[in-house]
Amino acid sequence: MAKTLVAYFSVTGNTRKVAEAVSEAIRGDRELRAIREVGTLDAYKFFFVGFPVHAHSVPLEVESFLKKIPAGTKVALFSTHGSLQGHRLSGEAIEYAAVLAARAKILGTFSCRGKLSAKALEFLGRSPEHAEWVDMAASAATHPDLHDLEEAREFARLVQAKAG
Ligand SMILES: Cc1cc2nc3c(=O)[nH]c(=O)nc-3n(C[C@H](O)[C@H](O)[C@H](O)COP(=O)(O)O)c2cc1C
Repeated sequence: MAKTLVAYFSVTGNTRKVAEAVSEAIRGDRELRAIREVGTLDAYKFFFVGFPVHAHSVPLEVESFLKKIPAGTKVALFSTHGSLQGHRLSGEAIEYAAVLAARAKILGTFSCRGKLSAKALEFLGRSPEHAEWVDMAASAATHPDLHDLEEAREFARLVQAKAG
């Protein structure tokens, strides 16, 4: 039987945690893999794709992956980000991800905050173009938390019910 794939990109582990929660909540045959470990896409009928927002956008590795998803395939997207929940800067990234996967059928999106290391905050805070979200990002220090992970599970259950 065709499987569901939960594919993620994660540098510091936040998105991986959310991907694990998504995968736990899915019923039936599924696989959890880092994007760089995914081989052929033919074996899957449904993709969850997760990424961290980088420079207000989608990391390159995730861009290429989204573009490869076969037309008509069901897809759900999730992201983690340092900026506040619902903020324009993080919302735009997931909207862009949906555009990249435009040939697919997007069934839902989810995002939550994810902490940055003190070192990353300090480093990124030095560039004026990052100032707006870096100021917000300090308060992401406890995320993803248990509530975020429960919401991610609920997202996965709802989307899977929609997928039929
Ligand atoms: C190089 C870099 C750029 C980032 N750019 C943004 C950004 O533009 N907007 C934002 O909200 N968060 C940004 N973040 C924060 C990450 O999206 C956030 O910490 C995320 O949860 C990291 O996920 P990961 O642990 O799976 O790598 C950035 C982090 C790094 C390291």
